[in-house]
Amino acid sequence: MEKHKIAPSLLAADFTRLSTEIELVNRSEADWLHLDVMDGRFVPNITFGMFIIEAIHKMCEKPLDVHLMIVEPEKYIEAFRKAGAHVITVHYEACPHLHRTIHQIKESGALAGVALNPHTPVQVLEDIIESVDLVCLMSVNPGFGGQKFIYQTIPKIRKLREMIVSANAPTLIEIDGGVGLQNTEALLQAGADVLVAGSSVFGASDPVATVAALKAFERRFDN
Ligand code: DX5
Ligand code: ZN
Repeated sequence: MEKHKIAPSLLAADFTRLSTEIELVNRSEADWLHLDVMDGRFVPNITFGMFIIEAIHKMCEKPLDVHLMIVEPEKYIEAFRKAGAHVITVHYEACPHLHRTIHQIKESGALAGVALNPHTPVQVLEDIIESVDLVCLMSVNPGFGGQKFIYQTIPKIRKLREMIVSANAPTLIEIDGGVGLQNTEALLQAGADVLVAGSSVFGASDPVATVAALKAFERRFDN
Protein backbone atom coordinates (compact mmCIF):
# COMPACT_ATOMS: atom_id res chain seq x y z
CA MET A 1 0.00 0.00 0.00
CA GLU A 2 1.31 3.38 -0.92
CA LYS A 3 2.48 5.66 1.87
CA HIS A 4 0.10 8.44 2.87
CA LYS A 5 0.88 12.01 1.84
CA ILE A 6 1.34 15.00 4.11
CA ALA A 7 0.37 18.44 2.81
CA PRO A 8 1.26 21.30 5.18
CA SER A 9 -1.20 24.19 4.82
CA LEU A 10 0.55 27.50 4.31
CA LEU A 11 -2.37 29.34 5.92
CA ALA A 12 -0.76 28.76 9.34
CA ALA A 13 2.69 29.99 8.23
CA ASP A 14 4.26 33.33 9.10
CA PHE A 15 3.70 35.42 5.96
CA THR A 16 6.31 37.99 6.99
CA ARG A 17 8.89 35.31 6.29
CA LEU A 18 7.27 33.34 3.53
CA SER A 19 10.46 32.19 1.80
CA THR A 20 11.84 30.78 5.08
CA GLU A 21 8.57 28.92 5.71
CA ILE A 22 8.62 27.47 2.18
CA GLU A 23 12.24 26.47 2.67
CA LEU A 24 11.09 24.48 5.71
CA VAL A 25 8.56 22.67 3.54
CA ASN A 26 11.23 22.01 0.88
CA ARG A 27 13.53 20.49 3.49
CA SER A 28 10.78 18.38 5.07
CA GLU A 29 9.25 15.07 4.03
CA ALA A 30 6.08 16.92 2.97
CA ASP A 31 4.60 15.57 -0.26
CA TRP A 32 2.59 18.62 -1.29
CA LEU A 33 2.11 22.21 -0.15
CA HIS A 34 -1.57 22.99 0.50
CA LEU A 35 -2.72 26.50 -0.50
CA ASP A 36 -6.06 27.87 0.70
CA VAL A 37 -7.67 30.38 -1.65
CA MET A 38 -10.63 32.20 -0.04
CA ASP A 39 -12.81 34.85 -1.65
CA GLY A 40 -14.90 36.32 1.17
CA ARG A 41 -18.03 34.99 -0.54
CA PHE A 42 -17.97 31.21 -0.40
CA VAL A 43 -16.25 31.49 2.98
CA PRO A 44 -16.16 34.40 5.44
CA ASN A 45 -12.44 35.10 4.94
CA ILE A 46 -10.12 36.34 2.18
CA THR A 47 -6.60 35.02 1.62
CA PHE A 48 -4.64 35.16 -1.64
CA GLY A 49 -4.97 34.35 -5.33
CA MET A 50 -2.94 33.30 -8.35
CA PHE A 51 -0.47 36.17 -8.13
CA ILE A 52 0.86 34.95 -4.77
CA ILE A 53 0.66 31.31 -5.87
CA GLU A 54 2.86 32.11 -8.86
CA ALA A 55 5.49 33.54 -6.49
CA ILE A 56 5.20 30.52 -4.18
CA HIS A 57 5.60 28.22 -7.18
CA LYS A 58 8.99 29.80 -7.91
CA MET A 59 10.23 28.95 -4.40
CA CYS A 60 8.50 25.67 -3.65
CA GLU A 61 9.95 22.35 -4.76
CA LYS A 62 6.82 20.40 -3.79
CA PRO A 63 3.67 20.08 -5.91
CA LEU A 64 1.08 22.74 -5.07
CA ASP A 65 -2.29 21.49 -3.80
CA VAL A 66 -4.64 24.41 -4.42
CA HIS A 67 -7.91 24.41 -2.46
CA LEU A 68 -10.36 26.88 -3.99
CA MET A 69 -12.90 28.11 -1.45
CA ILE A 70 -14.44 30.48 -3.97
CA VAL A 71 -17.69 30.88 -5.86
CA GLU A 72 -17.64 30.31 -9.64
CA PRO A 73 -14.26 28.52 -9.56
CA GLU A 74 -14.70 27.54 -13.23
CA LYS A 75 -13.75 31.11 -14.17
CA TYR A 76 -10.25 30.74 -12.76
CA ILE A 77 -9.15 27.12 -13.37
CA GLU A 78 -6.72 27.88 -16.22
CA ALA A 79 -5.27 30.84 -14.33
CA PHE A 80 -4.52 28.74 -11.24
CA ARG A 81 -3.03 26.02 -13.40
CA LYS A 82 -0.83 28.60 -15.11
CA ALA A 83 0.22 29.90 -11.69
CA GLY A 84 1.59 26.42 -10.89
CA ALA A 85 -1.21 24.35 -9.34
CA HIS A 86 -0.65 20.58 -9.47
CA VAL A 87 -3.98 19.70 -7.83
CA ILE A 88 -6.99 22.01 -8.15
CA THR A 89 -9.81 21.33 -5.71
CA VAL A 90 -13.21 22.98 -6.06
CA HIS A 91 -16.11 22.80 -3.62
CA TYR A 92 -19.08 20.61 -4.47
CA GLU A 93 -21.26 23.31 -2.87
CA ALA A 94 -19.91 25.97 -5.28
CA CYS A 95 -20.32 23.94 -8.50
CA PRO A 96 -23.77 23.51 -10.06
CA HIS A 97 -22.06 21.86 -13.08
CA LEU A 98 -19.50 19.77 -11.25
CA HIS A 99 -19.02 17.25 -14.06
CA ARG A 100 -18.06 20.01 -16.47
CA THR A 101 -15.78 21.71 -13.94
CA ILE A 102 -13.93 18.47 -13.13
CA HIS A 103 -13.26 17.90 -16.82
CA GLN A 104 -12.16 21.50 -17.21
CA ILE A 105 -9.57 20.94 -14.44
CA LYS A 106 -8.34 17.75 -16.08
CA GLU A 107 -8.06 19.41 -19.46
CA SER A 108 -5.93 22.14 -17.86
CA GLY A 109 -3.46 19.37 -16.93
CA ALA A 110 -4.03 19.49 -13.16
CA LEU A 111 -5.41 16.73 -10.96
CA ALA A 112 -9.08 17.34 -10.22
CA GLY A 113 -10.23 17.52 -6.60
CA VAL A 114 -13.68 18.01 -5.07
CA ALA A 115 -14.09 19.24 -1.49
CA LEU A 116 -17.13 18.49 0.66
CA ASN A 117 -18.20 20.67 3.56
CA PRO A 118 -18.80 18.86 6.88
CA HIS A 119 -22.57 18.69 6.31
CA THR A 120 -22.37 17.35 2.74
CA PRO A 121 -22.75 13.56 2.51
CA VAL A 122 -20.19 11.62 0.47
CA GLN A 123 -23.01 9.92 -1.48
CA VAL A 124 -23.45 13.06 -3.62
CA LEU A 125 -20.28 11.99 -5.47
CA GLU A 126 -21.43 8.46 -6.21
CA ASP A 127 -22.09 9.02 -9.92
CA ILE A 128 -18.93 10.98 -10.57
CA ILE A 129 -16.33 9.37 -8.32
CA GLU A 130 -14.49 7.64 -11.18
CA SER A 131 -13.62 11.01 -12.74
CA VAL A 132 -12.39 12.60 -9.51
CA ASP A 133 -8.67 12.36 -8.70
CA LEU A 134 -9.09 13.50 -5.09
CA VAL A 135 -11.94 14.06 -2.64
CA CYS A 136 -11.16 16.52 0.13
CA LEU A 137 -13.32 15.93 3.21
CA MET A 138 -13.51 19.11 5.24
CA SER A 139 -13.13 18.20 8.90
CA VAL A 140 -13.78 21.81 9.96
CA ASN A 141 -16.02 24.47 8.46
CA PRO A 142 -13.86 26.06 5.76
CA GLY A 143 -12.61 29.60 6.24
CA PHE A 144 -10.09 29.49 9.06
CA GLY A 145 -7.12 27.51 10.32
CA GLY A 146 -6.71 26.27 13.87
CA GLN A 147 -10.25 24.92 14.38
CA LYS A 148 -11.31 21.79 16.20
CA PHE A 149 -11.56 18.53 14.22
CA ILE A 150 -15.18 17.42 13.62
CA TYR A 151 -15.18 13.76 14.65
CA GLN A 152 -18.08 12.75 12.35
CA THR A 153 -15.50 12.94 9.55
CA ILE A 154 -14.22 9.48 10.53
CA PRO A 155 -17.35 7.52 9.42
CA LYS A 156 -17.45 9.70 6.28
CA ILE A 157 -13.93 8.53 5.39
CA ARG A 158 -15.02 4.90 5.76
CA LYS A 159 -18.09 5.43 3.56
CA LEU A 160 -16.06 7.22 0.92
CA ARG A 161 -13.41 4.49 0.96
CA GLU A 162 -16.12 1.88 0.36
CA MET A 163 -17.48 3.92 -2.54
CA ILE A 164 -14.01 4.26 -4.10
CA VAL A 165 -13.23 0.56 -3.70
CA SER A 166 -16.55 -0.55 -5.19
CA ALA A 167 -16.09 1.80 -8.17
CA ASN A 168 -12.51 0.55 -8.51
CA ALA A 169 -11.46 4.21 -8.78
CA PRO A 170 -7.96 5.55 -8.07
CA THR A 171 -9.38 8.54 -6.13
CA LEU A 172 -7.37 9.84 -3.16
CA ILE A 173 -9.08 10.82 0.10
CA GLU A 174 -7.75 14.04 1.63
CA ILE A 175 -8.67 15.31 5.09
CA ASP A 176 -8.50 19.03 5.79
CA GLY A 177 -8.90 20.77 9.15
CA GLY A 178 -7.82 20.05 12.70
CA VAL A 179 -5.38 17.32 11.67
CA GLY A 180 -2.38 16.59 13.88
CA LEU A 181 -0.42 13.87 15.65
CA GLN A 182 -3.42 13.19 17.92
CA ASN A 183 -5.79 11.98 15.17
CA THR A 184 -3.48 10.84 12.34
CA GLU A 185 -3.65 7.17 13.29
CA ALA A 186 -7.48 7.16 13.31
CA LEU A 187 -7.65 9.00 9.98
CA LEU A 188 -5.27 6.60 8.28
CA GLN A 189 -7.04 3.60 9.72
CA ALA A 190 -10.37 4.87 8.36
CA GLY A 191 -8.85 5.15 4.88
CA ALA A 192 -7.33 8.62 4.38
CA ASP A 193 -4.56 9.07 1.77
CA VAL A 194 -3.60 12.74 2.16
CA LEU A 195 -3.51 14.72 5.39
CA VAL A 196 -3.55 18.52 5.33
CA ALA A 197 -1.95 19.99 8.44
CA GLY A 198 -1.75 23.73 9.08
CA SER A 199 -1.35 24.83 12.67
CA SER A 200 -0.07 21.44 13.83
CA VAL A 201 2.94 21.86 11.48
CA PHE A 202 3.64 25.61 11.37
CA GLY A 203 2.66 26.11 15.01
CA ALA A 204 5.10 23.41 16.15
CA SER A 205 8.53 24.31 17.53
CA ASP A 206 10.06 22.03 14.90
CA PRO A 207 7.85 21.87 11.77
CA VAL A 208 10.26 19.61 9.86
CA ALA A 209 10.27 17.05 12.69
CA THR A 210 6.47 17.28 12.95
CA VAL A 211 6.07 16.48 9.26
CA ALA A 212 8.42 13.52 9.75
CA ALA A 213 6.33 12.34 12.72
CA LEU A 214 3.09 12.64 10.71
CA LYS A 215 4.70 10.77 7.86
CA ALA A 216 6.01 7.99 10.12
CA PHE A 217 2.55 6.60 10.96
CA GLU A 218 1.72 3.28 9.33
CA ARG A 219 -1.41 2.65 7.30
CA ARG A 220 -3.27 -0.44 8.39
CA PHE A 221 -6.63 -0.56 6.63
CA ASP A 222 -7.35 -3.29 4.11
CA ASN A 223 -8.39 -2.12 0.70
C1 DX5 B 1 -9.64 25.67 6.28
C2 DX5 B 1 -8.54 25.32 5.33
C3 DX5 B 1 -7.51 24.42 5.90
C4 DX5 B 1 -6.73 25.01 7.04
C5 DX5 B 1 -6.34 23.89 7.96
O1 DX5 B 1 -10.60 26.39 5.59
O2 DX5 B 1 -9.07 24.69 4.18
O3 DX5 B 1 -6.61 23.97 4.88
O4 DX5 B 1 -5.58 25.70 6.64
O5 DX5 B 1 -5.76 24.43 9.07
P1 DX5 B 1 -5.57 23.59 10.43
O6 DX5 B 1 -4.71 22.42 10.08
O7 DX5 B 1 -4.91 24.57 11.33
O8 DX5 B 1 -6.94 23.18 10.89
ZN1 ZN C 1 -7.64 23.72 2.77
